[in-house]
Amino acid sequence: MKKNNFYRTNLIAAKDLSVAMLMELFALAQHFKLNKYASTLHNKIIAQCFFEASTRTRLSFEAATLHLGGKIISLTDQDSSSLRKGETLYDTIKVIAAYADLIIMRHPQAGAAALAAQAATCPVINAGDGSNQHPTQALIDVFSIYECQQNINGLSIALVGDLKYGRTIHSLVQLLAMFDIRLYLVSPEILSLPDDICDSLKRQGLKFSFHQNLATVIPLVDIIYMTRIQKERCSGSEYQLAANQFILNAALLTNARSNLQILHPLPRINELNQDIDETRHAYYFTQAANAVPVRQALLTLLLNENLSCKPL
Ligand code: CP
Repeated sequence: MKKNNFYRTNLIAAKDLSVAMLMELFALAQHFKLNKYASTLHNKIIAQCFFEASTRTRLSFEAATLHLGGKIISLTDQDSSSLRKGETLYDTIKVIAAYADLIIMRHPQAGAAALAAQAATCPVINAGDGSNQHPTQALIDVFSIYECQQNINGLSIALVGDLKYGRTIHSLVQLLAMFDIRLYLVSPEILSLPDDICDSLKRQGLKFSFHQNLATVIPLVDIIYMTRIQKERCSGSEYQLAANQFILNAALLTNARSNLQILHPLPRINELNQDIDETRHAYYFTQAANAVPVRQALLTLLLNENLSCKPL
């Protein structure tokens, strides 16, 4: 049996991955979509350390663990842990690593996941660190794009909303840069994709352009990836300037390509109107459901050395 490339590694940033790893993981995720239950986490304890709010990430990791026969220990906020007494995050994670086979952590500070990986003797998954990275969301996003368009190469993709603070965007562009695609970056000027990320995309040869008119971009793309303005990370003035600038509704889709699919990592606020939910273009709830099989695949690969699933 072939050894897999994920075994006992950390997943801190999307750049830790490769196309070969994605295809390996997606094949297994497809398997788990059809066969929900397995015992690949039998006798394994997963520690969920969520120091910032979450619905989808925490509960889909939890569902994934339970489907695979694993057990969960959890911290659901900073106040219920000894961080409240002044313990460092480093010490906290070092101790939790002695209790668990794998740690999943969300934290409000950029760089916290990398610090946790230094402290832990078991694999660490970054479930979101400030506005930095959210690599498992990007895996779900690219899996969903692949699923709804049957390919990734050759696609035109619009990323819309808060490209400055949106950590799902920062991870997603790193994965998309591994493919031959065309990106349309649609955002308020004050919330555009940070320069260091743009420079990195240029070095990788990715084709992209900046836009402030969503309506003109819609007919050009196969995927629209909407995001909310990250109110909790913006300054007050940024939020005032950016809120309500890009709102996608069904009327705007009149000239859309027939194959257009709309994704959103959720939660949505008002940037994605509910009148799109019943159109053939809405894919965001399927995308949210894909969180479970994709995270099942990731947990299985990180904790099982041998893999029998053939990559896509
Ligand atoms: N997409 C996502 O990360 O959602 P939650 O913040 O609810 O986990």
